[in-house]
Amino acid sequence: MKDKLILAIESSCDETSVAILKNDNILLSNIIASQVESHKRFGGVVPEVASRHHVEVITTCIEDALKEANVKASDLDAVAVTYGPGLVGALLVGMAAAKAFAWANSLPLIPVNHMAGHLMAAREQKELTYPLLALLVSGGHTELVYVSHPGHYHIVGETRDDAVGEAYDKVGRVMGLTYPAGKEIDQLAHKGKDVYQFPRAMIKEDNLEFSFSGLKSAFINLHHNAEQKGQELVLEDLCASFQDAVLDILLAKTKKALTSYPVKTLVVAGGVAANQGLRERLAEEITDVDVIIPPLRLCGDNAGMIAMAAAVEFDHKHFATMDLNAQPSLAFEQLENEILD
Ligand code: KG4
Ligand code: ZN
Repeated sequence: MKDKLILAIESSCDETSVAILKNDNILLSNIIASQVESHKRFGGVVPEVASRHHVEVITTCIEDALKEANVKASDLDAVAVTYGPGLVGALLVGMAAAKAFAWANSLPLIPVNHMAGHLMAAREQKELTYPLLALLVSGGHTELVYVSHPGHYHIVGETRDDAVGEAYDKVGRVMGLTYPAGKEIDQLAHKGKDVYQFPRAMIKEDNLEFSFSGLKSAFINLHHNAEQKGQELVLEDLCASFQDAVLDILLAKTKKALTSYPVKTLVVAGGVAANQGLRERLAEEITDVDVIIPPLRLCGDNAGMIAMAAAVEFDHKHFATMDLNAQPSLAFEQLENEILD
């Protein structure tokens, strides 16, 4: 059978990325232009700044991805693009580029949900077997997803307020760490102890919902009160206490989900899946199912993961028309409806 070659574009947040995928999981290139340096001084992503950066680099990223993969536009079978969830202006830049490229080269356009991309990045590690359960943890989302078969995603639990990555970045800001703070908190946590004992919200409740805003508030209050009283807090212990609370919640809810949905495979993906503490706890505590975590380079936002999710849609000929619009709050169920229409 002829090789399947997909060019994928991701621009939903602060990474402009273009990848070329061969068949289902062979990444020939995965160019990532990060804007993180531009957003650091604001302590978070500034949407307008993000869109402008995407415009500046998107064409070069496409050229570089083709060149590194040693692929010509005429060799390609499809163009995939993230159409949500994400920042609307940022998404539109990638979508305009993808549509123009698809139209100019007479290629079908594949719409991809960013979170499906995070999940399907696990394909690079190992071919997935279905049904499976996924814990998706990123800067904007925290959700448990049941995937009955390829391309069919059902949210079975999610956060009621903050996403876990967002909580990392917020408490990082309170401690004076640079944005995004997840990695640094993870490193500091390994040198400290859980001495502050933050609350583990909803951990005992019989559902698959998460909540991180109470943890964030408890952290901010402790920090604020200590500052007012002139008390010294130990940074490493603060990080360890925060991370232990987060991991206790993530592990408890994931284990609960695995009892309600007895599958053989658990995928853990998204930016926070890079967390070493989380990886250690998963290895220690979840031993009866196959736990697949994408390699570190595919945990953060990248187009390679979008291409791997797109490969499934390509097989089902789930293509979009040129009037595809950006969906900043795109949900999984919506993707399915869009495609089945
Ligand atoms: O998936 P991602 O790259 O972007 C979104 O789609 O949101 O996730 C970014 C998030 C940030 O909040 C960042 O602080 C967090 O992932 N993150 C981590 C780690 N590395 C990145 N959080 C905890 N531990 C890490 N090692
Ligand atoms: Zn992401």
